[in-house]
Amino acid sequence: MTTAIIGTGGIGSAVARQLASGGETLQLSSADNESARRLAEAIGEAGVVAVDNRSALQGADAVIFALRFSVLKDVIDEIADALGDKSLVVPSNPVGLDAQGEVVRLLPEGQSSGETIAGWLPTGARLAMAFGTMSADLFESSSNRSPEPAVLFYVTDDNHGSDVVERLIRTAGFEPVKAGGIEQSGRLEVGGDLHDLVVGPAEARSLIGGARSLRRPSQGHLFGRAFAQTVSTALTIAASTGTDSSIEDEAPATTHCPPPP
Ligand SMILES: NC(=O)c1ccc[n+]([C@@H]2O[C@H](COP(=O)([O-])OP(=O)(O)OC[C@H]3O[C@@H](n4cnc5c(N)ncnc54)[C@H](OP(=O)(O)O)[C@@H]3O)[C@@H](O)[C@H]2O)c1
Repeated sequence: MTTAIIGTGGIGSAVARQLASGGETLQLSSADNESARRLAEAIGEAGVVAVDNRSALQGADAVIFALRFSVLKDVIDEIADALGDKSLVVPSNPVGLDAQGEVVRLLPEGQSSGETIAGWLPTGARLAMAFGTMSADLFESSSNRSPEPAVLFYVTDDNHGSDVVERLIRTAGFEPVKAGGIEQSGRLEVGGDLHDLVVGPAEARSLIGGARSLRRPSQGHLFGRAFAQTVSTALTIAASTGTDSSIEDEAPATTHCPPPP
């Protein structure tokens, strides 16, 4: 099967490597396509570089938007008319840096990334939130675990979307476990109770039915390794590109986070 991956940075390249090693054919695009070209070279004939985001979709059954939250809406708008027959998979967490370099949540308290992204999509789009629950390093080191596979949680409102995202999660070397509909996506985000967990299927299923204690960014002591690494990634990006003050412009309601533990 063929999957488009738009965004070939930290999480996009990790997901691409695992999917390629599971046999998926990938069509890759990124902002200037240099990182997509390097990634395609690294993964061999399973990866093809598309000339742009729209071309990446051609012939693909699914598209993974491995993009920072701050650029996601623009890319969706750019290719919205070509998304109708695709399953859309989004790993993005709604965090970024403000003008002072502080980590901020880019959405108001109580508003999840999945619900927000669903509102940006054309009517009838098939959205699943997945592949964003672990840092890229943890994701790769947990893939193809044995004897018991590690779980990747996902959420979707769409039955066909469930089939597609479950196939992708298995191809990447994990056991899929659905945590509910899109309204549950806050549980998967940085700060959510299902984020940064490496568990087997039985424990995962018991967690799904368990108490839902959202770990919001204001509760810094509850953040785990993935949050620290996400923040560290964001800081690395900011250091290499200059602090992105537009993050604050795009996100009038933000929650400031304490430094990661
Ligand atoms: N990194 C992690 O460990 C991790 C783990 C879980 C979830 N996440 C979430 O995943 C999202 C992406 O994080 P990341 O760390 O992978 O970010 P990243 O390393 O900055 O990668 C972002 C990618 O998006 C591409 N891009 C930017 N604008 C684009 C456009 N207009 N069209 C096509 N591609 C474009 C960039 O292209 P260029 O390469 O050409 O610049 C880059 O490849 C974030 O929301 C993050 O919270 C990250």
